[in-house]
Amino acid sequence: MSIGIFDSGIGGLTVFKEIAKEFPLADIYYLGDTARVPYGNKSPETVIRYSLEAAGYLAGFGIEALIVACNTASSYAIDKLRDNFDFPVIGVVEPGVEMALRHTKNGKVGVIGTQATIRSNSYKNLLEKKDIQVFQKPCPLFVPLVEEGITEGEIAKLIVKEYLDELIEKGIDTLILGCTHYPLLKNTIHQLYPHISIVDSSQAIVEFLHEHNIIFKGTGKRKIYITDEAESFKKFKEILVGNIPVERIDLSQICSL
Ligand code: DGL
Repeated sequence: MSIGIFDSGIGGLTVFKEIAKEFPLADIYYLGDTARVPYGNKSPETVIRYSLEAAGYLAGFGIEALIVACNTASSYAIDKLRDNFDFPVIGVVEPGVEMALRHTKNGKVGVIGTQATIRSNSYKNLLEKKDIQVFQKPCPLFVPLVEEGITEGEIAKLIVKEYLDELIEKGIDTLILGCTHYPLLKNTIHQLYPHISIVDSSQAIVEFLHEHNIIFKGTGKRKIYITDEAESFKKFKEILVGNIPVERIDLSQICSL
């Protein structure tokens, strides 16, 4: 079975890594829309258009399921994607909510993400239906920090504290990393707040697939496409998924510019 995974850039590779580990025989096609990253500060209309174009490109490989490895796209475009394509479309929000519900003991959950994800209230709305108290905060500096490779050390700690101290003071016991870039900061977050349960999209989605008995099998093919050259993508690709070759495609192949 072949699956497509897309994100605005490198973040979705954290999801790719876990899916590839869990389903070694799945054929996986990944698209990182590096020419148009970030999605997190774009309007809902733009995020929807980019998502439909990314999915349309991956559909060309005959994929049988699509994983939206971007919280921003999952927050705005999931319904439109489901309306436009016949294959199942799995986003990261629902899995993240389910995992947080399994983890929280005191019913107080923090959600961090891009400006767009937090503005959408995608996590908040689902969690509040389950009587969870939600504390949200956009963390716009986290994406460039990760892209620069500053994921550990004093600078990373200072910036993480700047955003997260306020949420921790609210008494949350669980924190949803509502952006697929953020798992790269997980060690730093854990060092600073060891008592907090961390929910990250890559683990949440693997648990979700197991819970729902979804299994991917195929020949173990892996392909990664990006829409522009990006140094940070190459660096993180090596760290996260090793020597899988990356092919650059022209943006005109996915959108009608
Ligand atoms: N990886 C994206 C997400 O999960 C964030 C990066 C971006 O702003 O494009 O929301």
